[in-house]
Amino acid sequence: MRKAMVAGNWKMNGSSKEALSLVRGFVELQQAGDAGDSNKVGVVLCPSELYIPQVKSLLPEGSGIAVGAQNASDKLSGAHTGEVSVEMLLDVGCEYVILGHSERRALYAESDAVVAAKVRQAIESGITPILCVGESQQEREAGVTMGVVERQLAAIADLCGIEAFGKSVVAYEPVWAIGTGLTATPEQAQAVHAGIRSWVSSRDAVVGQGLQILYGGSVKASNAESLFACEDIDGGLIGGASLDAGEFAAICRAAG
Ligand code: PGA
Repeated sequence: MRKAMVAGNWKMNGSSKEALSLVRGFVELQQAGDAGDSNKVGVVLCPSELYIPQVKSLLPEGSGIAVGAQNASDKLSGAHTGEVSVEMLLDVGCEYVILGHSERRALYAESDAVVAAKVRQAIESGITPILCVGESQQEREAGVTMGVVERQLAAIADLCGIEAFGKSVVAYEPVWAIGTGLTATPEQAQAVHAGIRSWVSSRDAVVGQGLQILYGGSVKASNAESLFACEDIDGGLIGGASLDAGEFAAICRAAG
C-alpha cells in the first residue's frame, strides 16, 4: 500500500515574513486535524532554499512535515559559483529535492542528461528526488505524451538503473497545466500515471508497485479529491495553491 504525499512547491515566491506566516498557518491547521491524517499523507514543503532553515525551525517535533528544495547541483562541491549541493541541503535538514521541473528544463535549459546527473547525485547522497516529467501542449496535441514521458524516465534508468525509482518520487506535470488554471482531467492524468507505473513495473515489478507518483498542474482544493481518487495517483505537487495555508491543508486532507 503506497502512502499518499502532497508537496508544496513555493517556487520563487514570498519573503521570510511570508514564509513564517504560511508555515505557522499550516501547522495550526494540521494540529487542529484540518490537513488530513499524517499517518496517511506525507507533507513536504519546498520553499526557496534561503528559507529552508527557518521553515524547518518552525516545524514542531513529530509533525511529520518534511522539507524539500526546488533544485540542486549535479556536482558535489567545489568551484561552481551560485550552485547549491545536495550535501548542503541535507545539512540544513532537507529530505527531498524537486529535480527536472519543467520550468528548469524550459527556462534553464536542463536536458534529460543534466536532470539524470542531478538525480544520481541526490540518490548517492541520500536525499529523495521528486523527479518531474511531463509533456507540452504541442506534444500532447501531436499524440506523443507517453513517448516524451518515457524518454524522460529512460534518461534516469539508463544512468542510475531502474532501482533509482525505488529511491525517488515521480511527479507527472503536464506543462500545459502548470500555473495555467487548466488541469488534466482525472482520466487524462490516470492514463499517464498508469503508463509511468507500467513502464517502471515492466523493468522491476516491485519498484513499480511501490513508486509514489504525484500529479501536478493547477491542483486546487476543488479538484484534488477527484484526481487523488484515481488508482495510480498517489498525491500531488502543488504550486500556486500551496501558497495559501487553508487551500494547501484542504488538498492534504483530500489526499489523506
Ligand atoms: P501549479 O504548479 O500548481 O501552480 O500549476 C505546479 C508545479 O509547477 O509544480
